[in-house]
Amino acid sequence: PRPILLTRHGESKDNVRGRIGGDTALSDAGEIYAKKLTNFIEKRLKSERAASIWTSTLQRTILTASPIVGFPKIQWRALDEINAGVCDGMTYEEIKKNMPEEYEARKKDKLRYRYPRGESYLDVIQRLEPVIIELERQRAPVVVISHQAVLRALYAYFADRPLKEIPHIEVPLHTIIEIQMGVTGVQEKRYKLMD
Ligand code: G3H
Repeated sequence: PRPILLTRHGESKDNVRGRIGGDTALSDAGEIYAKKLTNFIEKRLKSERAASIWTSTLQRTILTASPIVGFPKIQWRALDEINAGVCDGMTYEEIKKNMPEEYEARKKDKLRYRYPRGESYLDVIQRLEPVIIELERQRAPVVVISHQAVLRALYAYFADRPLKEIPHIEVPLHTIIEIQMGVTGVQEKRYKLMD
C-alpha cells in the first residue's frame, strides 16, 4: 500500500521569533531539515517513480522541498497555513496584550474561532476537501509539506480523530508522520529527523 508522508516545513525565521503567519524563509535549522528530509525521501521512495511532492504556496514549504529532485512538485493554495487575518505576523504574547478579547475567544473555542479577516480551523478543514479527495485517489506515495494547522486537520482525517481534538493535535517540527492505508486500517509511523 502507498504511504502518505506528512511533514511541516523546516523551521522558519518567523518560527524562531515566535511570529505566526508570514512568509519567511528557513532558519539555519530549517535548512538542515530540508537536507535531512531529502535524504530520507531519496531512500524511502527510491523505487517509487510515480511519487509526488505537494507543498503550499508559501516560501517555507517550497524551500523545504527545494533540495528534493526526481519527483514532480505541486503547489496547493489549499495547503497554505491558517490565515491569521489581522493577527498575521504577531506573536501570541502581542495578541494577548493588544487584542485580549480575540485571545480569550480563541482560547474558549479554538476550533470555531475565526481570526478577524482570516480563517478558523473549520474554514481550513473545509478548504482541504479537494486535497483529501485527490490524496485518496493517488496510487503512488505523496509527500505533503505543509503547516501545523493544516497538518492537524489532514492527520485527523486519516487517523480518524474527532473534530474537537484537531486544534490541539501535536504536529512537531522536523518530524515525518507516515500514514499507510491498508486493508486492516490505518498504520502510522513517526520519524524524528532532528531534535
Ligand atoms: O501559525 C499558526 C500555527 O501553526 C497554528 O497554531 O492554531 O495552535 O495557533 P495554533
